[in-house]
Amino acid sequence: KPSCEYQPGLEGIPVAQSSISFVDGKNGILEYRGINIEELAQKSTFLETAYLLIWGKLPTKDELANFQDEITRHRRVKYHIRDMMKCFPESGHPMDALQTSAAALGLFYSRRALAKEEYIRDAVVRLLAKIPTMVAAFAQMRMGNDPVQPSDNLNYAANFLYMLTEKEPEPLEARIFDVCLMLHAEHTMNASTFSAMVTASTLTDPYAVVASAVGTLAGPLHGGANEEVLVMLEEIGSVENVRPYIEDCIENKKKIMGFGHRVYKVKDPRAKILQQLAERLFELTGHDEYYDIALEVEKVVTEKLGHKGIYANVDFYSGLVYRKLGIKPDLFTPMFAISRVAGWLAHWKEQLAVNRIFRPTQVYIGDRGIPYVAIEDR
Ligand code: CMC
Repeated sequence: KPSCEYQPGLEGIPVAQSSISFVDGKNGILEYRGINIEELAQKSTFLETAYLLIWGKLPTKDELANFQDEITRHRRVKYHIRDMMKCFPESGHPMDALQTSAAALGLFYSRRALAKEEYIRDAVVRLLAKIPTMVAAFAQMRMGNDPVQPSDNLNYAANFLYMLTEKEPEPLEARIFDVCLMLHAEHTMNASTFSAMVTASTLTDPYAVVASAVGTLAGPLHGGANEEVLVMLEEIGSVENVRPYIEDCIENKKKIMGFGHRVYKVKDPRAKILQQLAERLFELTGHDEYYDIALEVEKVVTEKLGHKGIYANVDFYSGLVYRKLGIKPDLFTPMFAISRVAGWLAHWKEQLAVNRIFRPTQVYIGDRGIPYVAIEDR
């Protein structure tokens, strides 16, 4: 007999004990290892935050320097993987390319079921280092270009933008991108993290863990929403069209992308930071008319759906920032994946320490004792 009532989507059911991140959905608070995301966004970097999430403490100066150096050294991907990626269809979605490439890393570095510190460190370094390179490589290859090799002189965020655009970004652009990576790095028990943990619980290798999480993140109800937000802003086209468009969505029970959250019933704290980043970026690169449309969308949705606890989530402003950084809409979700790898790996490491294979139960609602009918009698 099940020990509790069936809950679609496991809503409200704890599936782990974790000390990685904390969300207060009523007050709009997110903390990584107890540190408020707003403070991290101001003072930390993505790699320092990844270290914090995975090893549970802020690194010392030396620990951080060694971690950054190791990641810089592992940024390149084997030509076998690049050759494999050249066979991917140009029209394929970059998330599918990423899922395939992440799984392929396991062919080269698999060390199944060795829950040792060096094994964890090795996988963390390789995945954090190589995933951005693979995302940028596919983005170049699908346009018929050779991948841009990583530059050892650039930091994590600047190097990624350089591989993607073949142009060294302005320091402010790199910093803004780095903050975006921090904001998306971890978010308690979301669908892709749960997927990562289920996979991890079988003691398969971390490349399979990350590949399964990438597949889960790709859906429009999860990481895919930021791409859909830009499609929506394009469809709306002007500030005047916002109100009728949103009213039509509500009337026809169509979800408005970039709004609503299972946990936050106020504006997502990450959306607030992203909005500020978007404004800083527009000061550098020029005003974006989509931002005016977005502001009006937020105003109308808040007016119409705020009473139901539906407010802007992390995906609402991230697309506008990425677009200004020269990132194409179908690469927005891979940006999320580059960053969320940190959170997935933190949960993988936490899971290994207390592992018990996930084996939930179900409520059977089908028939029983039905006789088999021969094919000619059906
Ligand atoms: N637009 C319009 N109505 C909405 C929206 C929305 N974006 N989100 C929720 N609702 C309504 C929904 O129709 C339902 O109304 P009613 O009670 O009248 O039937 C009510 O709010 C509850 O919605 P739900 O879908 O049962 O809520 P949930 O907790 O299962 O969904 C969600 C959370 C994120 C899947 C949902 O809000 C959604 O689909 N949002 C749009 C997609 C999106 O922006 N996703 C990104 C989420 S944040 C990043 C991430 O986790 O990856």
